[in-house]
Amino acid sequence: MTSRLERMIARLITQRACIGAAARRVEHLEGPVLEIGLGKGRTYTHLRQVFAGREIIAFDADLHAPPGAAPPQDCLLLGDFRETLPAMARRRPGQAVLVHADFGSEDCDADKALAQEIAAPITELVAPQGIVVSDRPLSHPALGQIALPAIELPEGIAPWRYFMYETAQS
Ligand SMILES: C[S@@+](CC[C@H](N)C(=O)[O-])C[C@H]1O[C@@H](n2cnc3c(N)ncnc32)[C@H](O)[C@@H]1O
Repeated sequence: MTSRLERMIARLITQRACIGAAARRVEHLEGPVLEIGLGKGRTYTHLRQVFAGREIIAFDADLHAPPGAAPPQDCLLLGDFRETLPAMARRRPGQAVLVHADFGSEDCDADKALAQEIAAPITELVAPQGIVVSDRPLSHPALGQIALPAIELPEGIAPWRYFMYETAQS
């Protein structure tokens, strides 16, 4: 049985590796990065570092990131993903070079239902050749799952499930 600490270590290392791999795949593309699940801003601040100078738009139900990890107001969309993502997809379809979806909770059934509802707007938001990285599986006919990068975890730490997709028009 792994501890919560060990699972957290696996999660953070995996997130960093997947974001790094996705960044290398999209560096030649122009367009914004979307952070779906700002949370405390851990992965957002990492995206800010990796995608320096690029527009990064973050989504969450409310702002609970500390001030240093909060996006500028015009790059933060607060509200339920079921509303904010379709609204964004109507305004700016097919532009995002990377969508990092990090919306999981400890309620697997709720996460599954949410994933089903937001898979379509997420897919609409991705640019041709763009990448989706997600902490929960997303199912959509236009998303093809791709392999995760090789991830080196400290001894005794079990792999963390993460998911990467490219759009069918890639
Ligand atoms: C796993 S946390 C994000 C962690 C964050 N990426 C980080 O590294 O600090 C998931 C976030 O998704 C948000 N969230 C979950 N379901 C949501 C929904 N239906 N609409 C808007 N936000 C939601 C939660 O408020 C929470 O901040």
